[in-house]
Amino acid sequence: MDTLCSIIGYKGKQSAAPILVDSLKKMEYRGYDSVGVAMIDNGGGMMVRKGTGKVQEVNKNLNISDMSGSIGIGHTRWATHGGVTDSNAHPHSACSKDIAVVHNGIIENYRELKEELTKAGHVFSSQTDSEVIAHLLESNIGKGVKAALMETCKRLKGTYGFVAVFQDGTIAGARFEEPLIIGVANDGYFVSSDVLGFLQYTDKAIFLDNCDIAVIDNKKLEIFNFDGLPVARPITQVAWELGEIDKGKYAHYTLKEINDQRVTVANAARQDEQAMERFCQTIKEAGSVYITGSGTSYHAALLFKHMLARFAKIRAETVMSSEAHDGLASVDEGSVIIAISQSGETADVLESVKIAKKQGAKVLGIVNVVTSSLARISDVFLSTNCGPEIGVAATKSFTGQLALAYAVTDRLSGGKLKAGEGAEFVNAIEKVISTSQPVIEKMAEGMKEVNDIYLLGRSIHYPIALEGALKLKELSYVHAEGVAAGELKHGPLALMEKNTLVILLAPQDATYADSISNAHEIKARGATVIGISDAKDEVYDHWIQIPHMDQEAFYPIVEVIPLQMLSYYMALAKNADPDYPRNLAKSVTVK
Ligand code: AGP
Repeated sequence: MDTLCSIIGYKGKQSAAPILVDSLKKMEYRGYDSVGVAMIDNGGGMMVRKGTGKVQEVNKNLNISDMSGSIGIGHTRWATHGGVTDSNAHPHSACSKDIAVVHNGIIENYRELKEELTKAGHVFSSQTDSEVIAHLLESNIGKGVKAALMETCKRLKGTYGFVAVFQDGTIAGARFEEPLIIGVANDGYFVSSDVLGFLQYTDKAIFLDNCDIAVIDNKKLEIFNFDGLPVARPITQVAWELGEIDKGKYAHYTLKEINDQRVTVANAARQDEQAMERFCQTIKEAGSVYITGSGTSYHAALLFKHMLARFAKIRAETVMSSEAHDGLASVDEGSVIIAISQSGETADVLESVKIAKKQGAKVLGIVNVVTSSLARISDVFLSTNCGPEIGVAATKSFTGQLALAYAVTDRLSGGKLKAGEGAEFVNAIEKVISTSQPVIEKMAEGMKEVNDIYLLGRSIHYPIALEGALKLKELSYVHAEGVAAGELKHGPLALMEKNTLVILLAPQDATYADSISNAHEIKARGATVIGISDAKDEVYDHWIQIPHMDQEAFYPIVEVIPLQMLSYYMALAKNADPDYPRNLAKSVTVK
């Protein structure tokens, strides 16, 4: 019922429908199971077209781009529970059909609101939580649009960014714990959950704060808070390059983004001097250091912790953002929390930052989207500088996070890591990408019937074993498990038998000898072993070669590349769409 989606509104002089469709395509990575648009047509009537499927498909079936009018709202949906049906697709209309709403977030008290509204005579047409917003606005519209929004926001519990369109041509939006941004163009306004929704039309953005309401009527844009008091929000110029999201010559965004890593890792390693200094100084002054993130970003946190301990002798605690309530219990005024997030909008990450902040901690952000909520609430943030990552599976943002973790560690350790601008790993990544594609593609084809894969890594390779397993799961729908290689004998060895497939991370570093022993133990039980290493060994059934690294600590950023490629090609071998894995969304802005 709840949704996690992209929202867009437009009111201007252009024909709105093609703009809305275009914007929804750009933001589709945020959620992609249904699409819909509500327009005030040229005759002044409200028209809604919506259905299940991707933007292109729904547009083709319902001719959304042909709808007339210059005022409208649009939505792509990703349902976390509740059916993917035409009626659950947004926009949702009020009974009178004079108001339509698109929403991103979760309305936690929707059941009681729905009951109350139903008793008052409202008729609901969907099973979503979002529809209550349309009916609440309708019950208060007699007091005017502004008052209707204020009254509605006062009644809602949960998280939301929503945009409503009214029969008189007004569009309005409100936000609480979900992003909402206004695009200011020469001849109109946009209201969106993401700057990508309007960046091709304007680079001028107003980032609404929490508890802001914006109303755009025929005269002007007005922004006020939930109490109705006017608030001033500056116009920010956002970087045009954020809008470059073309697949170019690649079949999929995921493949493009894997290839992008040849340059993006260097961009991440190169940081603004002043921000870097402030970032590191904050860590140096901290009594305790916590690092948090979700999914892939959490795996980056795990490696960051190893680096800080090994080279800078700084002890850090890693906390999975979704487990922050207990994990951050000991945070105090002397603490610093380093929050890692590609999108900077992940609800679990923002929640953990909030918890830490409340307990007095300083916040350091590592983000890819520099306009994100995390960037904005951080005391200092650094950017991974990877450019937009559209594929749902994080690839270049992960290696960007690692490159940045190396750069920070290097500075904190007085240059012990010898990271420089990352030349050694930049070259190695280039080599892996340009040489291993044929062997990995062939391997993936042969692995498409496999049901279970175990990825083994010790020490700094364990986070990569976890990350490789996550990539295989989300892209190629295979059960994959990252195992700390030393733990094999404490249990997982029982699973090793003839049909088991094991991928071993075994570069020639301090872990090498133990990892090769593990490979022999596995082979002795009849399992198949794929070795990812700079050295060939007869124990491997298959070998994926990576370059030798003088700095052992750089192996993780290199060895993850073949795992990304394997996951991508396995997805293709299994006819899965690597850019849009089933049931997942790029930014998980709900808890
Ligand atoms: C990664 O491939 C996943 N799509 C997912 O685990 C992701 O890393 C996680 O949701 C965190 O996202 P963030 O980095 O934008 O916070």
